[in-house]
Amino acid sequence: MRTQVCIIGGGPSGLLLSQLLHTAGIEGIVLERQTRDYVLGRIRAGVLETGFVDLMRRAGVSERMDREGFVHDGTLIAAGDEQFRIDFSALTGSHVLVYGQTEVTRDLYQARDKAGGTVLHECSAVKPHDLDTDAPYVTFIQDGTVQRIDCDFVAGCDGFHGPCRQEIPLDVRREYEKVYPFGWLGILSETPPVDQELIYSNSDRGFALCSMRNANLSRYYIQCSLSDAPENWTDDAFWAELKTRIPTEAAERLVIGPSIEKSIAPLRSFVTEPMRWGRLFLCGDAAHIVPPTGAKGLNTAASDIHYLFEGLSAFYADNEDEGIEKYSEKALARIWKAERFSWWMTNLLHRFPDQSEFDIKMQKADLAFLRDNAAAQQVLAENYVGLPY
Ligand code: APR
Ligand code: PHB
Repeated sequence: MRTQVCIIGGGPSGLLLSQLLHTAGIEGIVLERQTRDYVLGRIRAGVLETGFVDLMRRAGVSERMDREGFVHDGTLIAAGDEQFRIDFSALTGSHVLVYGQTEVTRDLYQARDKAGGTVLHECSAVKPHDLDTDAPYVTFIQDGTVQRIDCDFVAGCDGFHGPCRQEIPLDVRREYEKVYPFGWLGILSETPPVDQELIYSNSDRGFALCSMRNANLSRYYIQCSLSDAPENWTDDAFWAELKTRIPTEAAERLVIGPSIEKSIAPLRSFVTEPMRWGRLFLCGDAAHIVPPTGAKGLNTAASDIHYLFEGLSAFYADNEDEGIEKYSEKALARIWKAERFSWWMTNLLHRFPDQSEFDIKMQKADLAFLRDNAAAQQVLAENYVGLPY
């Protein structure tokens, strides 16, 4: 087989890139390790920056997102029983769209199918070769047969645990990591959300987040120990703990119900530099991870895809290589700002095991300053709705 861009990974990054390339008449093949159902079974966040929404519109995959997505003009920040609102619209003139990543991925799969795109599932032993030449290729096994795809470029959209990042030689690759000393225990419940907007809550017992997927599907998280496990928590225990961590008036109106999903996610900040090696370009979780506190995971993947799509389009349309030459530099410039914001939100809202009384006082002062100062709220709002590409 031969194609122009071989995309390793059929998550949101790989699928969005593949669909955008298709709109520019650029051929791509997506190689995904798992089945489609497995990929669609993942529960992920669902807060989309306008940059991501614009990319989906440009890719022609926005009809259901625009119909079913919820525009959020602000978010609520709680500290104990106190709560205040960050008004995205008033502060930035912009907003975010709440629409589950699972639905984004589903829409992208359907768009690829409709366009006759090639997405190969259950591909194992996927390996890129000759990345430092102008004739790279990728080998993989599907249905027990070793196959080869010759291509011009390889997009490593294979997530944090994929192999592409390791293709960058150790003497070239720099990795930056911060692992947080807690996780998020999350549940999905077929109950109405506790509020119209998200509630990020800092409480003496730890962080909590009240989020949603639609008018009858809610997503809640509580900070938990890394040694904890979902099976340690009955639904009743989860709801009781959540109620202690959000403002009383929210706890009193909280509608509880059986969880349909319960899991624990670790929190880490991670960045790989550079994000390019020869004809290999890393995108999304393959290159970087953010703690979910700032809702940036999918949105940082989006700006990578934007820069790479622009670069590849210019290469094929005008034989211009500046875009691909500057991909890593441009992508990382925005990634580090998203890492900073996610790290800052995480430090603002969580209880750290080694926190001193003074540290807690500093956190409370930070929250009070954010509550009282328009400039501080503007900084949070501009980062949350998404910095410019
Ligand atoms: N070969 C082929 N596919 C692979 C391989 C491999 N060796 N290793 C991993 N993959 C696939 C995974 O099965 C997954 O479907 O690559 C895909 C990577 O998808 P994601 O991990 O979702 O990463 P990305 O597409 O960059 O999306 C980032 O997903 O995890 C969330 O919080 C993250 O919201 C962010 C978004
Ligand atoms: C979610 O709805 O899963 C969600 C929302 C906002 C976040 C993290 C997760 O910051």
